[in-house]
Amino acid sequence: MTTVHGGTVATATPPLDVPAIRAQFPILERTVRGEQRLIYLDSGATSQKPLAVLDAERHFYLTSNAAVHRGAHQLAEEATEAYEGGRAVMAAFVGAQPDEVVFTRNATESLNLVAYSFVNATDKARWGSPLPEGAERFILSPGDEILITEMEHHANLVPWQEVCAKTGAVLRWIGLTADGRLDLDRLDDLVGPRTRVVSFVHQSNLLGTINPIQPLVSAARSVGALVVLDACQSVPHMPVDVAGLGVDAMAWSGHKMLGPTGIGCLWARPEVLASMPPFISGGSMIELVTMERTTFADPPKRFEAGVPMVAQAVGLAAACEFLNDLGMPAVAAHEHDITGYALGRLQEVPGLRIVGPLDNDMRGSAISFVMDGVHPHDVGQVLDSRGIAVRVGHHCAWPACRSMGVPATTRISPYIYNDRADIDALVEALDGVGSLFGVG
Ligand SMILES: Cc1ncc(COP(=O)(O)O)c(C=O)c1O
Repeated sequence: MTTVHGGTVATATPPLDVPAIRAQFPILERTVRGEQRLIYLDSGATSQKPLAVLDAERHFYLTSNAAVHRGAHQLAEEATEAYEGGRAVMAAFVGAQPDEVVFTRNATESLNLVAYSFVNATDKARWGSPLPEGAERFILSPGDEILITEMEHHANLVPWQEVCAKTGAVLRWIGLTADGRLDLDRLDDLVGPRTRVVSFVHQSNLLGTINPIQPLVSAARSVGALVVLDACQSVPHMPVDVAGLGVDAMAWSGHKMLGPTGIGCLWARPEVLASMPPFISGGSMIELVTMERTTFADPPKRFEAGVPMVAQAVGLAAACEFLNDLGMPAVAAHEHDITGYALGRLQEVPGLRIVGPLDNDMRGSAISFVMDGVHPHDVGQVLDSRGIAVRVGHHCAWPACRSMGVPATTRISPYIYNDRADIDALVEALDGVGSLFGVG
């Protein structure tokens, strides 16, 4: 057994065969900025897509393309099977039942779907409009509280600010320690009888921190608050099983886990989904429509108005199967190895400071850093000129940057197709950055 992320999730898995994996990603064979080999270290933003995903989408368009659910012809039947089959594969990947997974455009939309359940239920209750059974849990009163953390991606911060602005609820947050972990010392003060939601990121896209779920779930449970997990940076990188997590809802994106852009997921407990009012309304999400009123379909259809992203669901299923073939424990073990190696090597670079935990057991593979006297944008530009793709800026986690005392960082986020040689190339290029700017 190997310890990864503080738990024995990785059994004795064979290491990933990185050259064989790379061969499945033709984009990684291209050169950039002249004849530089592309070293892609920006998978936290979006991952590259293997041939299996591209082929699955192409095959769907070549053979079965049709709008799902309503057509009275063979193509529509096949497309519906492919779409619902994609849902079943995605659901199984996180240990869920198919009807518990809603397809959205991306994790941002999934989080908005949950957040707007509160706005919509509160509005409808005000006007005495019909609500699904159990929707009381989504009705907010002024002074009710929503607890998030200071390391949220804007996707799990701004929607809650909007909920507060529309309902009179109050946003509270858990602050950060100097090394970029959640400061849970004040958790008991922050969770109280008015807390209605506890929403937090599983793995920070800025700091790499993997947050402890259990204390937050326990605190939320003690006051009956809904627990929402942003699993955007965890589902692609480690085994995630919703049954074991104890949360009520979980959001993630397909494009960060080898899948296509344009598809995200929301999982929620069946009774939670059933009690959520619709978010976007129109065709396909209805039960009965008259000129006076409409009743709505059961989840997940209630939340999938319009013609959904069928080819993307097919591609996402292929991505899940690709990851299943590698084995998520092996994926996690590979990233743990490369992260530990990168943490060590980066600290050899003069003037470089890692922003986030240095303990590999507390973190995932997204590593942010700053360099004395060199702006992260300049670091990014020099790395780009060497063929190394990284991300620079506040990474849509502006408050977390502020809390860590940095305006911006450079971030690497390795994945299954990266190896130690990529990190060596990065460190060599960073040494060059120092001399170019007269630092170190
Ligand atoms: C932690 C986290 N949450 C949410 C998001 C938003 O994902 P998307 O842009 O796919 O909606 C991201 C994207 O980087 C993320 O890293």
